[in-house]
Amino acid sequence: MNRKVTVVGSGNVGATAAQRLVDMELADVVVIDILEGVPQGKGLDMAQAGPIVGSDAHSIGTNDYAETAGSDVVIITAGFPRKPGMSRDDLLLKNAEIVRTVTRNVMQHSKNPILIVVTNPLDAMCHVALQESGLPPNRVIGMAGILDSARFRAFIAMELEVSVENTHAFVLGGHGDTMVPLPRYSTVAGIPITELMDQATIDRLVDRTRNGGAEIVSLLKSGSAYYAPSAAAVEMAEAILKDKKKIVPCAAYLRGEYGIRDLYVGVPVKLGAGGVEQIVEVKLTADEKAALARSADAVRELVDVLQSRASV
Ligand SMILES: NC(=O)c1ccc[n+]([C@@H]2O[C@H](COP(=O)([O-])OP(=O)(O)OC[C@H]3O[C@@H](n4cnc5c(N)ncnc54)[C@H](O)[C@@H]3O)[C@@H](O)[C@H]2O)c1
Repeated sequence: MNRKVTVVGSGNVGATAAQRLVDMELADVVVIDILEGVPQGKGLDMAQAGPIVGSDAHSIGTNDYAETAGSDVVIITAGFPRKPGMSRDDLLLKNAEIVRTVTRNVMQHSKNPILIVVTNPLDAMCHVALQESGLPPNRVIGMAGILDSARFRAFIAMELEVSVENTHAFVLGGHGDTMVPLPRYSTVAGIPITELMDQATIDRLVDRTRNGGAEIVSLLKSGSAYYAPSAAAVEMAEAILKDKKKIVPCAAYLRGEYGIRDLYVGVPVKLGAGGVEQIVEVKLTADEKAALARSADAVRELVDVLQSRASV
């Protein structure tokens, strides 16, 4: 293949994203982790699936960043989930250190990659990758909105018993609790869901979407969701590699759009070969604006913690 994608982190999200990239023959894939043997084993296993799934994409696993040289896209999934007894700030600082190190290593070997950040807390980790990489903000993008809207779409399709392909969902804001779903822009075959369901049903689906990650964590008992998250990261990589100019919700760096400045927040963007090629602005009601501002405040709080620690 003439395109190369590096996936940092060979855990659940990283390995599944790598497998999807290889299966879809989107690019040659390098999986890198600090664990010795695990990325190598998974890379080799994926390569051996090639003859069966009909993919000539190469896949390797490594612990050496020299192997990631010349990557077009880098998906960053390295990091840890919150453990019992760990505060949100503890996780923030621990994963920030990992994302900082990873970004520094990636940039030593790839001149102008596009970084897709997956590690949580997502919006804050985008700031770390942006700062450490020195890349322009259109080349550092966070994955969250596609996942949140896919969850909403799946629930809409289940409720109305229609194909998921007929559903579109519109979600703004930070990842998880503070996401701002916009039902009037969410449609089934072009019809707003506000015309297809009563408010109580919409509220129930929105609520389930907001808690979509937690619902899966409580079922799995250890670890968190990875099938849908990896599919979402790969949709972003595909849009970039194929220059699709696809409008999807991503965490993007805002410079005044939606009245928010110098902050990563989930908004619809046009994704193509240049990364974020446009931030799509839609008219919001006063309530929607207020919800988005609250979501942005939650991101700003985390970024402020990072900056205050960095200056100590
Ligand atoms: N943005 C989203 O919507 C979303 C969705 C799902 C998961 N996540 C986040 O993605 C991250 C990964 O989730 P997971 O389920 O794959 O976790 P996981 O524990 O299965 O995998 C994480 C991997 O990162 C590796 N790692 C740790 N430090 C590293 C370093 N310095 N360099 C390279 N690799 C390193 C670990 O060895 C491990 O293999 C977590 O932070 C999780 O919260 C985000």
